Amino acid sequence: MADTFIKAEQLSEKQSEYMKLIAEIMEIRKRGEKPLAFIRTYGCQQNVADSEKIKGMLAQAGFDFADSPDDADFILFNTCAVREHAEDRVFGNVGALKNLKRRHPQILIALCGCMMEQEHIANCIYNSFPFVGLVFGTHSLHHFPELLYSALVDGKRVFERGNDDKKIYEGFPVRRDGNFKGWLPIMYGCNNFCTYCIVPYVRGRERSREKDIILSEAHNMITAGFKDITLLGQNVNSYGKTLEHPVTFAELIREIDEIDGDYWLRFMTSHPKDCSKELIDAIANGTHISKHLHLPFQSGSDRILKAMNRHYDRKKYLETIAYAKEKIDGLSLTSDIIVGFPGETYEDFKQTLSLIREVEFTSLFTFIFSPRKGTPAEKFDDPVSAEEKGKWFQELLDVQEEIAAKRCASMVGQQERVLIEGVKEKTGELNARTSGNIIVELQGDRSLVGSFQNVKITKARNWILKGELI
Ligand code: SAH
Ligand code: SF4
Ligand code: F3S
Repeated sequence: MADTFIKAEQLSEKQSEYMKLIAEIMEIRKRGEKPLAFIRTYGCQQNVADSEKIKGMLAQAGFDFADSPDDADFILFNTCAVREHAEDRVFGNVGALKNLKRRHPQILIALCGCMMEQEHIANCIYNSFPFVGLVFGTHSLHHFPELLYSALVDGKRVFERGNDDKKIYEGFPVRRDGNFKGWLPIMYGCNNFCTYCIVPYVRGRERSREKDIILSEAHNMITAGFKDITLLGQNVNSYGKTLEHPVTFAELIREIDEIDGDYWLRFMTSHPKDCSKELIDAIANGTHISKHLHLPFQSGSDRILKAMNRHYDRKKYLETIAYAKEKIDGLSLTSDIIVGFPGETYEDFKQTLSLIREVEFTSLFTFIFSPRKGTPAEKFDDPVSAEEKGKWFQELLDVQEEIAAKRCASMVGQQERVLIEGVKEKTGELNARTSGNIIVELQGDRSLVGSFQNVKITKARNWILKGELI
């Protein structure tokens, strides 16, 4: 393991100096008023967690946060590259800022995140969006203050991407969005290179944070009153391989689980090839670990799984699921699926349908294949029309709706412990979630938000449950 061992570095003192300098400059520019930042985050929780670090740094540099770009001195979009649709949304929303910049030339517009790690995108932004003053990729977070300082002070456009993808930095000031539900990144990057996926190219190689740092962060979150903590990684259950003293993911969650307190521990996203019996046993025997496994299978056809480079087959996946169902009482399963991978036939697709009928997932995240520049699958022959793929996609949704409805209906009459997450503005009802990640709506006072409550499930409407406080 020695050759892959990656040791963390601390955020440098220099960056703290830059944060102070920015605070001073902005104080003069704003004549003592607090500068405002507007951050919009696209994509997965990894990006949300990165934005929380950026917000932490901005807060140290004297910024407050605005709810709308119109009021902000600094606007940042943290972007996602996983599908074309995600990228199109970013382009559309950046284009819409052009007029704002014309009216307020002093504002700084910036883009960061996964899209910006792609050379062709950064070039396109450089050439077509001259009002964007700062662009940086996922590997540049550790010197964001320095980049921001250059863009603010020098008045030149600052573009940076693609350094340090084998490093880990610690010591970020994190400003979490919530106070009872929070993200805890435990590893970064991915080594799997599924043939359709852009993530390994924009997030770099897999690297894990030190176990002790994670334990202390988890401890701090629990002490601060967090009730729902999700450990994050693109391939979370491969955790620990790049450490000086390798640890398994199961060992990590067992140790976190020993921390006293009333909280749920979740994790995302697990890869079926790394879903060991040790991990399933840890979930089954855990005190705080939620009885939920998000285990993306992508396709039910072995031929397609091979073309996707997923390193498991249908049989292996179903064996893992069977073991998990046997060991974990009340297990809730969710998954990701890609429809219309290049070369997929209707026969292949039917195997995906049969797999979801067999497993009975609580819910699914379903996507139509989107070719990503620079990935192997971009060049695969893809003879099936978009229209045909759309029909298969709808068929998948219909089948899943039927399964989810049946599964939810079977919960009516049961008692469940839920975490109250918020209030539905339209109806005034409370929104809650079970340990299995199923949504429950119920009547109650908004002061209950952020607390665990016991509810009786009274009704099932498709995949949403209705409940009553006990
Ligand atoms: N690391 C996680 C999640 C990766 S991205 C994992 O391996 O499961 C989240 C989901 O987006 C993937 O599981 C996959 O279903 C989907 N996805 C990724 N690339 C895609 C593409 N090019 N087209 C369509 N869906 C894609
Ligand atoms: Fe992408 Fe595959 Fe890595 Fe997930 S495991 S991030 S799908 S390459
Ligand atoms: Fe998107 Fe990057 Fe996450 S591509 S899905 S934001 S890792």
